[in-house]
Amino acid sequence: TVSLRELAQSRGIAFGSAVSAASLAGDASYARTLGSEFGVVTPEDAMKWAVLRPARDTFRWGDADAIVDAAVANGQGVRGHTLVWHSSLPAWLTGGSFTTTELRDVLKEHVQTTVRRYAGRVKFWDVANEVLNNDGSPRAGFWLERLGEEYIADVFRWAHEADPAAVLYLNEYGAETHGPKADALYALVRSLKEQGVPIHGVGLQAHLTGSSRPDQLPALLRRFTGLDVDVAVTELDVRIPVPVTPAGLASQAEVYRQVTAACLAVARCVSITVWGFTDRRSWIGATYPGWGAATLFDDDLATKPAYRSVADVLTRT
Ligand code: G3I
Repeated sequence: TVSLRELAQSRGIAFGSAVSAASLAGDASYARTLGSEFGVVTPEDAMKWAVLRPARDTFRWGDADAIVDAAVANGQGVRGHTLVWHSSLPAWLTGGSFTTTELRDVLKEHVQTTVRRYAGRVKFWDVANEVLNNDGSPRAGFWLERLGEEYIADVFRWAHEADPAAVLYLNEYGAETHGPKADALYALVRSLKEQGVPIHGVGLQAHLTGSSRPDQLPALLRRFTGLDVDVAVTELDVRIPVPVTPAGLASQAEVYRQVTAACLAVARCVSITVWGFTDRRSWIGATYPGWGAATLFDDDLATKPAYRSVADVLTRT
């Protein structure tokens, strides 16, 4: 059978997955499926501050390097994730006493050291992640409190300086349907563009459920492309109640189908990335009790109805 990677490529988009460094290193069948089915990978955790920066003066590159090296060896692209986020920050940072100037320097150094290291290998970056609340206001958190809203524009500028060829994204969740958050995200991207900030794409995460109806997604994606940016689905998963039932799996397959079709329908939708490809390794179970089985492959790496519906849409629409 033809892989999602090849099917997507023939349609002019990339199909990717998040990758766990631990599974890649310790689970041979996981690594094999990742390598054969997906054209681009996003390190699920390996490039987050909490992993990469055990101390102020230490970068721990091991996990990230292993993921990037494997991707390059497999001819896969890499989407870096993420340079600035309110979550998964180390205690030396959040509990440290820094002046504003020192903190800006720490952030700039982090962004530029990381982007420079992977220049030429990491083509896309989720530069800033989840900067808005659901009501559209700026999301409270360490960076906003300490540096003010300007930190977003700064991080894009610093990343661009470090690798002018990298394609820089703003990544957000909960903006897959019309509402205050999608509107605020649009306004933010427009404002960044007006200021000349080097932002090249908008990522919609798409953490959905079997009851989601992502029928507004094509219009939303298209609206962003009106601002002269690419768009991508960056963290797609579709959780369903567990234990799974045939009806649950069918509802899930339908949501995967709709999201894939939405990206295909929008000229500048360049990729779809799933947030984990096997139920064996997914963040959902620990976060949403009673829910799970959110991915395309089951625990044994057998394809699920959702896989077949994605492959079908990539083949036929
Ligand atoms: O690896 C350690 C392990 O050694 C330790 O025993 C265990 C005990 O807690 O923790 C493990 O690390 C966890 C890691 O996932 C790997 O499982 C971290 O505590 C945990 O915080 C981390 O969660 C990640 C979460 O982001 C927070 O960074 C999830 O894997 C990851 O899927 C999730 O991804 C986010 C995106 O980055 C942004 N969008 C939402 C998405 C889902 O929350």
